[in-house]
Amino acid sequence: MDRPTLEILNTPHDAADAAATHLARWIDEARRTAGQVHVALAGGLTPRDTYRRLVGLIDDWQGVHLWFGDERLVPATDHDSNAWMARGSLIAPAAVPDGQVHEVRTELGLAEAVADYTARLRSALPEDDAGRPVFDVVMLGLGEDGHVASLFPGSPYLDDRLSVCVGVDDAPKPPPERISLGLGTIDAARHRLVLTVGAAKAHAVRHVTQGAPDPRWPASLLQTRGTVYVVDEAAASSLAA
Ligand code: 6PG
Repeated sequence: MDRPTLEILNTPHDAADAAATHLARWIDEARRTAGQVHVALAGGLTPRDTYRRLVGLIDDWQGVHLWFGDERLVPATDHDSNAWMARGSLIAPAAVPDGQVHEVRTELGLAEAVADYTARLRSALPEDDAGRPVFDVVMLGLGEDGHVASLFPGSPYLDDRLSVCVGVDDAPKPPPERISLGLGTIDAARHRLVLTVGAAKAHAVRHVTQGAPDPRWPASLLQTRGTVYVVDEAAASSLAA
C-alpha cells in the first residue's frame, strides 16, 4: 500500500523548522517556474512556530499569494480566526502585500462565503483537468480524530472530490461553522504538508500514515503522492515499527 512521506523530528521546534524549510523551498521553486505561487495556510495553533520561522527564510514575498485551507466563521479580528493567527505570526512580520493575502470573507455568512471563496479561487488559480484550482502548496494540521482543514470524520464532504470549498455547520471542534477547501482541491495541490506534534496526535498519525484510507480518519483519504507528514517524536510514538 502506498504511504505518504513521513518525517520524524526530535522536538516540536525541529518539526517547525523542517516544515518552514519545506515551505520556503516549494515557494521558491514555484516562483522560479511560474512567477507566482499560491499557498493555502493551515489553521489551528501548531503552524504558528512554522510561520514565524518562515518570515526569516523568505525576504522577498513578491508573487506569493496566501490563502487559507479553512476558516472559522468568526470575524477576522476574532482571536479564533485562522487569518488572525497567520496575520500575527507571518503576514504582518513578513509585510506580505495586502493584494497577496486572500482571507475568507466570513462576514458574508456561510453559504455566501463559500460561493465567494470558490469564485475567487477559480479566478486566481490554474485549474487541473477536473476543473479544480491547483495550489502549489496546501499546508494542513491534523486533529486528534484525523481531521484536516475542516473535514471531520463522517462528513458527507469526504465523498465529494469536486467542490472547490465547502461550508460546514456541525464541526465537532468549535466553532461549528467553518469554510474548508474540499478534499479534491486539497488533493489537486502539487504539495501537501501535514504538520502535527504532541502525543495527543499519535493515534491519528498512526491511522492516517499507516492505515488504509478510512473516512473515520479523514487525512487517510489524502493522496499519498506529494503528501509529506512532518511530526515530532511524541506524535510518532504510536507508529508500528
Ligand atoms: C482549524 C484547523 C484544524 C487544525 C487541527 C489541528 O481551523 O481548527 O484548520 O484543521 O489544523 O484541528 O489544530 P491544532 O494545530 O491547534 O492542534
